[in-house]
Amino acid sequence: MIPPDSIPHADLLGRDDIKVLVDYFYEKVREDLLLSFIFDDIAEFDWGPHLPKMYDFWKTMLFQSGSYHENPLRPHLGLS
Ligand code: HEM
Repeated sequence: MIPPDSIPHADLLGRDDIKVLVDYFYEKVREDLLLSFIFDDIAEFDWGPHLPKMYDFWKTMLFQSGSYHENPLRPHLGLS
């Protein structure tokens, strides 16, 4: 697991900083018994391709970078 000290304390400056934060966030999700169950057993989540999408998603949200072009709501509709 990434130690909390490696989380940037200054403003996020780009995709590399976002990656550290997103990776740490999902490490915590995967350790959490309730949340990991939803991702692993209900959504049957494939973490490999998902994390780069999340870096692009947050980069687009934070910096209007335009690197994420999908509809973020779409995959969640099928989970209900
Ligand atoms: C318990 C909460 C959540 C669950 C179970 C969940 C589940 C999922 C699943 C199953 C996918 C499809 C993964 C794939 O096929 O690659 C997905 C994609 C995604 N999720 Fe979530 N999600 C959750 C919360 C969130 C939140 C809070 C956000 C943003 C604030 C978010 C943003 C996204 C984005 C950007 C994608 C990629 C969509 C795409 O372009 O294909 N999700 N999520």
